[in-house]
Order: sequence, then C-alpha cells, then structure tokens
Amino acid sequence: MRVLILGGDGYLGWPTAMHLSQKGHEVAVVDNYFRRRACVEMNCLPLLPVPDLPQRAELWRALTGYSIRVAVGDVCDYPFLLQIFKDFAPEGVVHYAEQPSAPYSMLNRETAAFTLTNNLLSTLNLIHAVAETDSACHIVKLGTMGVYGTPNIDIEEGYLEVRHKGRKHTFLYPKTPGSLYHLTKSQDGDMLYFYCRMWDIRITDLNQGPVYGLAINGSLPDDRLAPIFNYDDIFGTVLNRFVAQAAAGYPLTIYGRGGQKRGYLNIKDTLACVELALRNPPEPGHYRVFNQFVETFSVRNLAEKVREAGRELGLEVQIKQIPNPRREEEEHYYNPSHSGLLSLGLEPHYLTIGVLLEMISMVQKYRDNLRPAYFLPRVRWQHNNCRAVSLN
Ligand SMILES: NC(=O)c1ccc[n+]([C@@H]2O[C@H](COP(=O)([O-])OP(=O)(O)OC[C@H]3O[C@@H](n4cnc5c(N)ncnc54)[C@H](O)[C@@H]3O)[C@@H](O)[C@H]2O)c1
Repeated sequence: MRVLILGGDGYLGWPTAMHLSQKGHEVAVVDNYFRRRACVEMNCLPLLPVPDLPQRAELWRALTGYSIRVAVGDVCDYPFLLQIFKDFAPEGVVHYAEQPSAPYSMLNRETAAFTLTNNLLSTLNLIHAVAETDSACHIVKLGTMGVYGTPNIDIEEGYLEVRHKGRKHTFLYPKTPGSLYHLTKSQDGDMLYFYCRMWDIRITDLNQGPVYGLAINGSLPDDRLAPIFNYDDIFGTVLNRFVAQAAAGYPLTIYGRGGQKRGYLNIKDTLACVELALRNPPEPGHYRVFNQFVETFSVRNLAEKVREAGRELGLEVQIKQIPNPRREEEEHYYNPSHSGLLSLGLEPHYLTIGVLLEMISMVQKYRDNLRPAYFLPRVRWQHNNCRAVSLN
C-alpha cells in the first residue's frame, strides 16, 4: 500500500514510518518541524537529539535497505499538500500533523489560536486533497480519548444510541473535552463525520489514550532512529515523565489527588493499530471510530508501578502530590469500551514491570541529558496564568 504520513517527524509519526516501510508498504512522510521549533521555544528539549527527516530517512535506508520519502512543508499550505497527493497518489493517509499538547493550547491566546487553526485547517486541507485527487483514499486520523472527558456513564466507541420520547437515534458520542487541544480534536472529528456524510469518503478516527515507550533498546538498529522523546510538562506524556523523574532521582509529581483515570497504550500498539486500520478500511461514507488504548490506570496507579520498578533497579522513588494545574475531575467513574481494534486482531502489549524496567534503564542511559527543571507544570488552566507550580 502507498501510505502518506502527515506529521511523520513526530513522536508517533517517525516510528510509524519505519514500521510500515519495514512491512513492505511504500511510505512518504510530511512534516513542517513545528514540534522541534516549539520544543526550543518552550525550553523543553527531547531526551535524545533527533537528526532531521532527510538524515533519519538516509540512516534508515543505509541500515535496513527500506526507503522513506520525505517532504518538509506545512499541511496547512494547500497547494503544497495537493502536490504531494498528485505526486505520491496515496491509498491511505495517516494524519498526525496536529498540535498535540493540552498545556501548549492553554498557555495564551497565540498558542490557542495556533492550535485551533493548525488542527482544523490541516484536517480540512487533507479532506479536500483526498476529494480532489482520489476519494477512495482512506484517511486514518489520530484522535484522542480526551474528547470524551470523564462522563458518569460508560464511554462507547464513537457513537451512542439515544432514546427520546419513544423514538431512538444514533449520534456521535457526546464530547466533553478538557482543554482547547482536546476541543480541536473533537471539532476535527465532527468535520470528518460531516464530510463523510456529504462526500462518501473513507475515514477512521482513532481515539487514542496517552502513549508511552520508546521502541528502542535492541529493537532499533541505531538510537538515532528513536522517536522524539519528551518528558517535560508541555509535550511529555505522563508515564514518559514519571519514568524520566524516576531515572533522575526526582519525585514523581502527581497532579492533585491522582485518581484521574485514562486508557493507556504502548507505542508498539499505536503502530499495530494504525496498520490494522489501514489494512481494513471502512466502507465509503462510514465514519468509523475506534477507542485506541489497551488498559486503564489512574495516575496514582501509574506512579506506584514506576516506584515498584524503580525499587528493582535500586532506585528510591518518591511520589509527591502537587497542586493540579488543570481543571479536571480527580476521582471519577471511567469505563470506556475498546473492542473494535481487538476484533481486527490487535495483540496488546501490557504495562508490566519488565516494560517499565526497560524504559527506566533506557532513560538512565541518557541520564546526563535529563533536565529536572522540565518536570514541573508551568501552565495553569486559567486565563493569562502561566507559572511554575511549586513542589513544596
Ligand atoms: N502521543 C500521544 O500520547 C497521543 C495520544 C492521543 C492522541 N495523539 C495524537 O496523535 C498525533 C501525533 O501525536 P504525537 O505525540 O506524535 O505528536 P508530535 O507533535 O510528536 O507529532 C506531530 C507532528 O506533526 C507535525 N505537524 C504539526 N502541524 C503540522 C502541519 N501543519 N504541517 C506539517 N506538520 C505538522 C509536528 O511538527 C510533529 O512532528 C496528534 O494528532 C495527537 O493529537 C497522541
């Protein structure tokens, strides 16, 4: 299959490119390096220095013989994107090219405006490029479980049947996003559903939970091919941050009471889910939604697991509650369903102590690069309120 990966330089995009090329697909990646620039601007550099896309693609080709085509540019630039579609003629597109950080979206008006325009315009351009070149091309868009929020009923997979005054109708499951970033993921989902109904295009929306892991340590021929790995308050996902805190000998910082539950998955499962979705496209006109995670944990559970793994490595891992910079429920009901990808054949990787030992050891290898100043949250969910939350 010819697969175009938008956002192919990112944490998930680059490993997806390697994975699909290794599976024999023809792969092209597009990225405008927004994430790299934002890491410099926000003072939160990744754990490992990451070569640029042409360098990574060249290294990958030299070490494995697989090739990945690279184009550097902005998906919001429609003529640029359209040209890529005309040249490469993808049969499937994976859309990762969005601003993915909740704190970044809540920082100030400019970052909010960027998140809104970037995430919605990139999605709109993608839909139009597909419709203009080949409407059979399957769009696989990365959504987030965060669009649902934490309702006091079970979360279904995309849709909810509603009975009202003796009649029934199936709607998209109601969304209650908890940050402006999550709101844009809800809005881009609505937009995809709209165009699906209007133009009969094929779309899979993967509502993914927070991802963890690095897929190196023996599984990659060279650490320079590892994904961009952030462990900071802006771009680091919670488990990656806890692992870095443990490796640095810094307390694991829980926001508030730590009863916030979410559905998590190993980065290896992200790659498997995206490939399963690509290989099993929906019918034209069907907006298909999968909830993409394999197990749920509270933040407190995660911290305790990291502490247990740290103990096995002789690390004294402390857990510290700090004021929650976000507006969210800290203890709540959470029961999302996630059967769609399992029924397509997903074989989950669970979060075992062994997996955590591997992650901590890998981060310890680059311990000299760790910057504890990156750990504490700088962005509060308040208007014009950006400052570090005190650890004391
Ligand atoms: N990482 C997670 O835990 C997670 C969880 C749920 C959903 N997601 C979603 O998955 C997708 C990828 O996440 P990620 O963690 O790899 O983020 P990332 O920031 O590492 O990757 C996104 C990439 O897209 C690029 N990009 C952004 N806007 C672009 C544009 N207009 N044109 C071209 N390139 C652009 C960025 O430079 C970056 O390299 C995002 O849409 C995110 O919302 C991620």
